[in-house]
Amino acid sequence: MRLLKPKKGDSYLDLTAGYGGHSTAILEKTARPDLAVLIDRDDQAVAELNKLFGSSSARIIHDDFYRACKELVSSKMQFDLILADLGVSSPHLNEGSRGFSFQQDGPLDMRMDRRQTFTADTIINHFPKEEIDRILKDYGEESKASLIAEAIANNRPIYSTSELSAVIAAVYGGHSRHNPATKTFQALRIAVNNELDLLADSLPLWLRLLSPGGKLAVISFHSLEDRIVKQFFAAHSGNRYDSSLKLLTKHPVHANFIETAHNPRARSAKLRAVAKIKRKGVVSNANSG
Ligand SMILES: C[S@@+](CC[C@H](N)C(=O)[O-])C[C@H]1O[C@@H](n2cnc3c(N)ncnc32)[C@H](O)[C@@H]1O
Repeated sequence: MRLLKPKKGDSYLDLTAGYGGHSTAILEKTARPDLAVLIDRDDQAVAELNKLFGSSSARIIHDDFYRACKELVSSKMQFDLILADLGVSSPHLNEGSRGFSFQQDGPLDMRMDRRQTFTADTIINHFPKEEIDRILKDYGEESKASLIAEAIANNRPIYSTSELSAVIAAVYGGHSRHNPATKTFQALRIAVNNELDLLADSLPLWLRLLSPGGKLAVISFHSLEDRIVKQFFAAHSGNRYDSSLKLLTKHPVHANFIETAHNPRARSAKLRAVAKIKRKGVVSNANSG
């Protein structure tokens, strides 16, 4: 709220509206639900958004933010405030049946959008072990990727998150400070939901969707996505004649002690924000071509 500084009359794009926490707080300030677009790819989140905002004139889109933003760009829309609060929601992690949690038993699912057919089961039970190894290295930075991929291939079929956790735990043999399944589960989730490609492909669209002077804030939860955001912001800011963004955060903002005490999942959150530079006398080309 401090960085976006929502004010009465602002238009608002929530790229990951989830259960509506941020949207509620921001729309209270802007008081213009008719200028708000709320996106989420998860049906449970969209059902909740419909309960919260369905009777207002806010537009709710059930889709991934890349496809939704392509449509908004072609409709020549622009927004004063844009927020992306990336990754999974607490209900994803808390409900074993969604398959995201290594702490609860559930199917090998991990889809945010349950209309897609590609699940964690597809990777675990059908991908070649070399491809599983690559996923665990690239998306989990897992140092035992090859051993885990080998163990997965040797223990197929694997039906549940607890069976998968047990296979990973056996590879570590008790020699891990954290839960040994953490990195593998992160990697599978990123692969199932194509999270990094969608983020990298969407950032240029978000730039186009910002009105001159508009602000964009992105909250990420692991270094792979934070790196993509940081590099994109750096490439479009600075003292160059063609810079289109001004950094509002030189370093990422972390949740403070009080917030992490209430919400331990905020511990790994990093927030970066930018403003789109207003150019005097130059007509914005953000929506052209
Ligand atoms: C951390 S939660 C957001 C919580 C939300 N800010 C709130 O206040 O309730 C992330 C949400 O983003 C959604 N999500 C993640 N990646 C997405 C994408 N590429 N497109 C659309 N929604 C996405 C997830 O389904 C999840 O509901």
